[in-house]
Amino acid sequence: MVSPIGTGTRSGELLERAAEVIPGGVNTCRRRSEPKVCVRCGAGAYIEDVDGRRYLDFHAAYGAILLGHSHPAVVGRVAQAIQERVLFGVGVTEAEVALAAKIVEHVPSAEQVVVCNSGSEATYHAIRLARGATGRERIIKFQGCYNGFHDYVLRNVLSTSDLVMRRDPQSKGMLDAAVDATSICRFNDLDDVERMTAAHPDQIAALVIEPIAHNSPGLLPRPGFLEGLRAICDREGIVLIFDEVITGFRHHLGGYQAIAGVTPDLTTLGKAIANGFPLAAVAGRRDLMERFTSNPAGDVHFGGTYNGNAVAVEAGLATIEQLEDGAVHEHVFRLGDRMRAGLQEVADEAGVAGVVGGFGSLFVLCFMEGPLETYEDVLRNDSELFLRYRRELIRRGVFEMPENLGRSHITAAHTDDDVDRALDAAREALRAALGRRS
Ligand SMILES: Cc1ncc(COP(=O)(O)O)c(C=O)c1O
Repeated sequence: MVSPIGTGTRSGELLERAAEVIPGGVNTCRRRSEPKVCVRCGAGAYIEDVDGRRYLDFHAAYGAILLGHSHPAVVGRVAQAIQERVLFGVGVTEAEVALAAKIVEHVPSAEQVVVCNSGSEATYHAIRLARGATGRERIIKFQGCYNGFHDYVLRNVLSTSDLVMRRDPQSKGMLDAAVDATSICRFNDLDDVERMTAAHPDQIAALVIEPIAHNSPGLLPRPGFLEGLRAICDREGIVLIFDEVITGFRHHLGGYQAIAGVTPDLTTLGKAIANGFPLAAVAGRRDLMERFTSNPAGDVHFGGTYNGNAVAVEAGLATIEQLEDGAVHEHVFRLGDRMRAGLQEVADEAGVAGVVGGFGSLFVLCFMEGPLETYEDVLRNDSELFLRYRRELIRRGVFEMPENLGRSHITAAHTDDDVDRALDAAREALRAALGRRS
């Protein structure tokens, strides 16, 4: 069934009213959508907008939702805990210790861990720690990776073709010194990393990378790429940081590092680790982590009023409990395989060039010829068709964010029937987006 989405909706009205008091009407730059959608509530795999429309949701709050919306075990545990504790700002709670112990138990690189509130905070702290520990300033990040909103890393994310691998800060107001201290390398290109390290001997503090470039989206590391980075970092004394803000817990409780068998020095976690609640973490080698000033002998500042608040910590513990027996991962990986294979069929049947990227529970149907291995490949995506297709999906009650190259997410709450429904909708939506009759 195709539902009408036009102007004059309650979502549109709410956004207009919001824009009087919130710049642009939304609280982060990527929440404006066309068609306009404001969500009133969500449960499991479904969300309902303020106009009463229900959608099968694959946006999952940019991947922060792994178990399903308002998962009862998570919200129940949070609701119970906050009756007696929210935040005290002195010492540590039993729950904070339990959470750290769980992360140390599961994440291969984690000998110690600190928590904060967002992925950007985590990458900021990790990079400063690497700089403090090495006494070096320069860092390497990768074209097409997003590692947070701060000046250290906010460059060369989804660069347009004229700015690929060139100086491409994403915001006014960034410090030139910070932008220029961040060198950009090509994902999946070890020679490029070798060239960069040779050009800056003994100057590179850290190499930060999404082990799967899900923000590009869905570039998988070629065999040997992550191992090669590990070897270069060992040889050059560079701190290897895996930014597992998307991959952490979503692909494995140990992060993608547990699947790849490559252990970084530091790991950043966020998003799915607390199923929608604001929890993030930096984990890593003890000798590095003990440099944080949470340790009296440390010399790299670590602070944050809300760090370790009960809402985030309890949500993290409840999420881990749901994941420990492996059933959720088995389920979302199986549905992810079905979805990727099904979408490839949909594109092939329609006779349109299509490649389905993603891994595990993530998928994205790009309209281009393969392969999908480098950032340059991503630029071949037909962005107009991509957006038309996503809008047609929304009309059919399936929500994937209508933004170019946005990845989509399967949660534990999705079922085989949901995947079937999504694939039927995809078939119709693609026909409509191509201007063909159903
Ligand atoms: C890989 C990666 N790192 C860091 C971040 C920043 O996380 P946050 O938005 O919680 O600050 C994101 C957010 O999308 C991300 O995808």
